[in-house]
Amino acid sequence: MIRSRIIATGSYAPPRILTNLDLEKMVDTSDEWIVSRSGIRERRIVEKDVSTSDLGTQAALRALEMAGLSSEDLDFIITGTNSPDMFFPCTGCFIQAKIGAKKAAAFDVSAGCTSFIHALSLADKFIKEDPKRKVMVLGAEIMSKVTDWTDRATCVLFGDGAGAIILAGEEGEHGVLSTHLHSDGSLWELLYMPGGGSANPSTHETVDKGLHCIKMAGNQLFKVAVRALAEVSQEAMKFNGLTSEDIDIMIPHQANTRIIEAAAKMINFPLEKIFLNIEKYGNTSSATIPIALDEMQRAGKLKTGNLILLCSFGTGVTWGSAIIRW
Ligand code: ACO
Repeated sequence: MIRSRIIATGSYAPPRILTNLDLEKMVDTSDEWIVSRSGIRERRIVEKDVSTSDLGTQAALRALEMAGLSSEDLDFIITGTNSPDMFFPCTGCFIQAKIGAKKAAAFDVSAGCTSFIHALSLADKFIKEDPKRKVMVLGAEIMSKVTDWTDRATCVLFGDGAGAIILAGEEGEHGVLSTHLHSDGSLWELLYMPGGGSANPSTHETVDKGLHCIKMAGNQLFKVAVRALAEVSQEAMKFNGLTSEDIDIMIPHQANTRIIEAAAKMINFPLEKIFLNIEKYGNTSSATIPIALDEMQRAGKLKTGNLILLCSFGTGVTWGSAIIRW
């Protein structure tokens, strides 16, 4: 059987670190509150002149180097993002131009923080259609530019970064075993950015009202997120005839340590098998999972044959999971 195997990973986070102590000087918050409520200690923030495609480009180049491929070997570039360079063209086209991937078809996926899993699911189908293809999947975000830096309920949570993987077709048991995707659009008001689109085109008034920033009902989203992560993880394991004992590593979307722990508890998933790096990066939206994959791969923590469960949730509300045999 042909499977889509991850043959390389790459990631990039901007060098500037914003700590919880820095945030204490900006809004009425404390390091103790942020760490105990979210698990976050610091996040990376871009300089003014940096765009999402710049972060994606760095992650893409690192993945290409690991794969030993040229950018011209890529057939597709699928970029998950909620903070694109521009409304159009898509951020993937900017990344394509910057890395010189002339042959690739580039497009973006917008499904909140679950965008990376949605993009992975599409990549898997492109490879099954033609196993000779090489497909790059990215999650790239600059959340700091859509953050209201006066809103303590959201500004402490998000950060900037990008991750990339390259998939190739391979005969055998290694690669993507399954993906499961869901959404419930009736819950859109739990997390949204109202300004700038066709509903509220940019005017002086929309800017004055701060409509170009994240609006979030954190408490309600928390409960939805716990259930979504738990259910979609169960669904993935059941589909593959697996239990939490069979899974070697869970890499969840890094939005909040308490959400992850509550979801794990709901399905009896051992905490020691869950990878967390939220304390260093905060919530980089669709980039959290590919950044985590790259960190683990480069640290030698992913062994051939490992069963890895990816799970995520995000604005929409969307949620999804994937199981990969490394
Ligand atoms: N510092 C200090 N106090 C704060 C802060 C802060 N940064 N933010 C809120 N508070 C206060 C609130 O005003 C409230 O005070 P009150 O009781 O006097 O009204 C109190 O802390 C408790 O607020 P809650 O919102 O109930 O706190 P909660 O324990 O729910 O934690 C949090 C808040 C961390 C936002 C949590 O709800 C959460 O993580 N929700 C999910 C958010 C999320 O994951 N979003 C992204 C998902 S999708 C994606 O990744 C794009």
